[in-house]
Amino acid sequence: MQVQIVDHPLAAARLTTMRDKTTDNAAFRGALSDLTQMLVYEALAGAPSVTVPIETPLTAHEGSRLATPPLLVPVLRAGLGMVEQAHAMVPEAHVGFVGVARDETTAQPVPYLESLPGDLSGLPVFVLDPMLATGGSMLHTIELLVARHATDITAVCVVAAPEGVAALEKSGHPVRLVVAAVDDGLNDVAYIVPGLGDAGDRQFGPR
Ligand code: URA
Repeated sequence: MQVQIVDHPLAAARLTTMRDKTTDNAAFRGALSDLTQMLVYEALAGAPSVTVPIETPLTAHEGSRLATPPLLVPVLRAGLGMVEQAHAMVPEAHVGFVGVARDETTAQPVPYLESLPGDLSGLPVFVLDPMLATGGSMLHTIELLVARHATDITAVCVVAAPEGVAALEKSGHPVRLVVAAVDDGLNDVAYIVPGLGDAGDRQFGPR
């Protein structure tokens, strides 16, 4: 599996803001939005484009646009804070939704929403979820996508645990990971360390 770590001083600065426990909800959402822009930009580097004939004010010109905009799939709740910025970057993209809660006693994913197009053949898909911890929510989402014939899936995450990366690798699904940092590991309640806490609570407040 391809793991692309977005190693850039601006990405590191936004990630530091997100990790800092004194950052309030609004500043956390702002940093997540900025970082999403960088992650999506990197995730689309090398994406196929098509030539588009246009006229500049001076002459005819062969322009270029993305050949196939990816379907954006935020994983609720935490992925909600990434979708607006990702959509601003690729305004022509369609958006699907997956909702997965976390059972706080078992750390197992509890799916509650699935709103996706029926056939994803030939369509790249970007799954937006800030935290790749055990990989349970991401794998659940990827399985929904693969069942709809997706063969080109990118997990766009802010922080990953090595355990989550290993789970994606082991699944054998057609997925690559674009992420700002791979952290040390999970603690005994499956939170990423050093991490940034609960990415849903940090954006929206506690449930
Ligand atoms: N989900 C989060 O929001 N944070 C973690 O550290 C792990 C899973």
